[in-house]
Amino acid sequence: YYPVICIDGPSGAGKGTVAWRLAQDLGYQLLDSGALYRIVGLKAKQAGLLDDVEALDEDALETLTKGLDIRFSPSESLGRVDIVVNDTLIGQEVRNETVGGYASQVAVFPKVRQALLALQQDMATRSGLVADGRDMGTVVFPAADVKVFLTASAEARAERRVLQLQSSGQIADMAEILTNIQSRDIRDEERSTAPSKAADDALLLDSSALSADEVYAQIKSYCQQ
Ligand code: CDP
Repeated sequence: YYPVICIDGPSGAGKGTVAWRLAQDLGYQLLDSGALYRIVGLKAKQAGLLDDVEALDEDALETLTKGLDIRFSPSESLGRVDIVVNDTLIGQEVRNETVGGYASQVAVFPKVRQALLALQQDMATRSGLVADGRDMGTVVFPAADVKVFLTASAEARAERRVLQLQSSGQIADMAEILTNIQSRDIRDEERSTAPSKAADDALLLDSSALSADEVYAQIKSYCQQ
């Protein structure tokens, strides 16, 4: 039996950074579940399955998802696992806002979520795990030892995204990013399967007015309780 720590919450709340630091500190593996949905979203887009947004084909998306050979492998960087799809290492190409949108489009479908479930749960059978996502504490690891739901106002999250994009040399439009975040929130929170919400036994933490270090310190001390 290995311990599992779930960090759930909306886009830009700072889950990624906290989860990564925790995994490093504790010597656990990191499951970036969003990357799985991003990969499916990108492949679906490339296959033309997202062209008609009014009539997305759940069975076709399920077939596509099941047809992907997704593997996790320990990464060069501590506290991470690399995701390898059909023998190709997934890099930064899934990390942008556009692919985030594709991810949330495919993530509404129960059959797509089901197709990714066993893969995620299997990760907790090999080592301690920090799991980052929307439904880690509610659906994927309901019996997890520690659950945190990290939120922040949409404005604070959009501001952070802008800074993040700018620091990697990209052009970022605040209004556009805020709109993207809000529409992704609505889709993630209102879908009927595994909506993004806190588990009943999760610690709720609003990071709007906290620095990354403060968030980390609070979650770390909660884990040690
Ligand atoms: O980093 P960011 O929060 O922007 O995105 P992400 O965690 O990579 O997730 C991208 C999208 O995948 C989300 O908007 C969700 O629609 C979906 N997702 C999900 O449904 N369940 C998860 N466990 C993780 C992500």
